[in-house]
Amino acid sequence: MANDFEPIVLAFCCNWCAYAGADLAGTSRAQYAPNLRVIRVMCTGMVHPNLVIEALTKGADGVLVLGCHPGDCHYLEGNLRAEGRREAISLLLEDLGLERERFRLEWVSASEGPRFAKVVNEMVEAIRQLGPGPYSTRA
Ligand code: FES
Repeated sequence: MANDFEPIVLAFCCNWCAYAGADLAGTSRAQYAPNLRVIRVMCTGMVHPNLVIEALTKGADGVLVLGCHPGDCHYLEGNLRAEGRREAISLLLEDLGLERERFRLEWVSASEGPRFAKVVNEMVEAIRQLGPGPYSTRA
């Protein structure tokens, strides 16, 4: 049943900003959906499009890439590289018959625990509305 669908959303979180933001969300008890699976990466610049595609074709229903705000990347331009890949990833998803909404790139700083929770909740709800993808293992 579509109503019972509980999406799995994978989040690649930059160690320096979004991962710390996730930590703050937890310690400050900001409520967010338990559908999230976090993968800590050193920078969003190291999240190759293949990783997003692989996740979405091997069971994840949505993928978030969360990193430092522009100007704050600890590797200077990593998040700008991630931004540069945004459209390419969306086009790859369309080629595979996946909705663009299954991928989202956002900036979350270490002090933005509530924002982390908001982005996660919005993403989980959006994916819940879409339903399982064509590669879902839990359709
Ligand atoms: Fe956070 Fe690059 S170090 S996005």
